[in-house]
Amino acid sequence: MSEAAPSTAALDVVPGDSTIGAEIRGLDLRQELSEEQISAVRRTLLDYCVLVFRNQQIDDQHQVRFTSYFGTPMEHVRKQRKRELKEIFIISNVTENDEPIGALGNGLIDFHSDLSYLRNPGTISVLYAIEVPDAGGDTQWCDCRAAYDALDYDLSKLARSLHAVHRHPVPEQNRPEPVDHPVVRCHPETKRASLYVSPHLTSHLRGVDEDESEQLLRRFYEHMDQPQFIYSHSWRVGDLLMWDNRPTMHRRLAFPDEQRRVMKRTQIFGEEVVE
Ligand code: OGA
Ligand code: MN
Repeated sequence: MSEAAPSTAALDVVPGDSTIGAEIRGLDLRQELSEEQISAVRRTLLDYCVLVFRNQQIDDQHQVRFTSYFGTPMEHVRKQRKRELKEIFIISNVTENDEPIGALGNGLIDFHSDLSYLRNPGTISVLYAIEVPDAGGDTQWCDCRAAYDALDYDLSKLARSLHAVHRHPVPEQNRPEPVDHPVVRCHPETKRASLYVSPHLTSHLRGVDEDESEQLLRRFYEHMDQPQFIYSHSWRVGDLLMWDNRPTMHRRLAFPDEQRRVMKRTQIFGEEVVE
C-alpha cells in the first residue's frame, strides 16, 4: 500500500497501486462500528473490492459481528473442533492428533470466486490471519471488472453471449443439478460488468463444443492473469481481509507444508447472478 489518500469523513482509506485493494487504517474491530463507519466500509468495498485491516486482535465473536454488518454470515455444517461459532470456518494445513483442524491444505488453490458452484454464490468473504508461513501462502485477487473492460471488442461480445457451468472439484460438494452463470455478470449495486469464470470452479461453457470451450476458457484465464489486474497480499498475523466475490477472483499460492498457516473465514451468501 502506498501514499496517503482521500479519506471519507468516517474512514482512513489508503489505496494500493492496483485498481483493487485498499487498506483501512485506524479501526479496531473489537469495537462496534458506527452506522457511518459501516456504510463507509461498504462504499469503499464497492470501489476497491478487497479491503485490508492490519493488526487486528479479534476473537470469533468479533469476526462474526463484523461480517454481519454486511449480511448474514453463513453457518458451516462441516464439523471443526477448534472453532467457537458455526459461522467461522477454519482454513489451515495444521493437523492435530492426525486430524486436520481446517480446510484447504497447503497447495495452490487456483483462481475462483467463493461458492460459484452454487446457484446463489458467495458475496462477501472475510479472512483473518492467526498464523502465517514465513514464505508463500500469499493470496491474490484479480479485478475481473478491469479484465472485462480490457477484452477486445469481439471477445467481449462473445463473452456476453455465453454461460458457464460451475462445479466443485470434490463431487460431494455439488448440488445434483449443474449450476451455470453468465460469463459476464453485472454487479447488482455498482452495475459494473465483470468476467465470471475461473480455472478452479468453472467446468465448461454451456452448449459449446468441448475443445472450443476449453480454448476459450483458457483465453479468458490467461487474459485475467495479468499483473495490471492483480492485487497480491502477503499475510501478516492480525491481518483481516474482506473481499467482494462478485467482481473478483482469488487464488492462494502454495507454501511449505512444514510451515503452519491458520486462518479463520466468514462468508455471506448472495443473490442469483444476473447478466
Ligand atoms: C477461501 C480461500 C484463500 C486463502 O477461504 O475461500 O480461497 O488465502 N482462501 O486461504
Ligand atoms: Mn476462496
